[in-house]
Amino acid sequence: MRRHTPFALALLALIACDRPAAEPPVPAPITMTGPLIAASMSMKAAWEFPRNPLTDKTLDNSKLSEEIRRGFKLFTNTPAEAPRLAPGGMSCTNCHMNAGQREKSMPLVNVAGMFPEYNRRSGRLYSLGDRVTDCFLRSENATGGELAADQLPNASSPEVLAISAYLTWLARGAEVGKNPSWRGQNTIAASALVPLEKLDRAKGEAIYQDRCATCHGPDGQGVQIGDKIAGPLWGERSWNDGAGAARVYTLAGMIRYSMPYLDPGNITDEDAQHVAAFINSKPRPAFPFKERDYRVEKLPADAVYYTRQVSRVGVR
Ligand code: HEC
Ligand code: HEC
Repeated sequence: MRRHTPFALALLALIACDRPAAEPPVPAPITMTGPLIAASMSMKAAWEFPRNPLTDKTLDNSKLSEEIRRGFKLFTNTPAEAPRLAPGGMSCTNCHMNAGQREKSMPLVNVAGMFPEYNRRSGRLYSLGDRVTDCFLRSENATGGELAADQLPNASSPEVLAISAYLTWLARGAEVGKNPSWRGQNTIAASALVPLEKLDRAKGEAIYQDRCATCHGPDGQGVQIGDKIAGPLWGERSWNDGAGAARVYTLAGMIRYSMPYLDPGNITDEDAQHVAAFINSKPRPAFPFKERDYRVEKLPADAVYYTRQVSRVGVR
């Protein structure tokens, strides 16, 4: 079942308020790039899931199938399914759009077989469960909720295992260890990177008010659009300062290809960086274990919430 009726109506109102009400909305075809929703698709494809465990007939009533379905629900509705792990109210799918099945939105199709993988931030090998745990702790700010340190999620928490089951299902049939071509595409080319000190927050704020505020709100806290809500980009309900998205270039790479959501991809490399610098100059929850990060590898220059001196970090 498609759930886009109230959403499509609200979206229609947003983009075409001057259209005569007599015209009923015609569902537009969804463009695909391989198994993924194409990066060019606008917000009208927000509720499309090319592979949906809730409707997939190949899944049965086994325990594993149940876990795959549970993982999908957790991924697409994290605050409702795991409120203690997502105190800010953002879902995994806010950033990994279309449940991790959208091109240039850090897609997770066929990615499970790449783990274990070396993780630069932690300086050690990461299992898929470790990676999912980190997105809970940081992107979902699980450390900022009501959980005590010994209750925080880890690689064998039920929610992490269920999401890992969903992600592994998304990789079924894929060659283990073969990097999918669509992985790692949310990056600004090295030649287009603007040095951090040249990024202009005032310019970023102007771009934000002009191109983002309709959906994310003038205060960055997100506006409800039909049954979708754009996530909070800063403040207590946002990702914490130890998250990947708290790095300026990482955030710019997300924004560059998936936003603004009615016209994705139509923002320049440079503007994406100015707006990311603005967003990551704002206050957000503190990740309490930042001092454990980048102990082996160098602290990246765009990890702007780390106050440690770059030159004092690393083993070299
Ligand atoms: C037409 C509405 C709309 C516009 C305009 C828009 N966004 Fe979004 N944005 C969304 C929605 C909705 C989501 C959540 C996506 C989902 O859940 O499928 C989102 C997600 C995001 C995310 C992922 C994290 C989060 O908080 O949800 C970032 C970062 C983001 N937008 C930044 C921007 C920036 C920067 C701009 C301006 C250049 C922008 N957006 C313009 C609707 C919009
Ligand atoms: C605020 C945005 C955001 C949210 C919300 C988010 N992630 Fe992520 N995720 C990222 C970013 C950015 C990366 C890229 C790695 C990095 O630099 O940290 C990433 C990477 C990943 C990866 C590794 C992908 C790869 O190709 O190696 C997995 C798996 C993942 N996230 C799962 C999740 C899950 C599960 C959730 C929900 C519990 C989630 N993410 C929520 C931003 C987000």
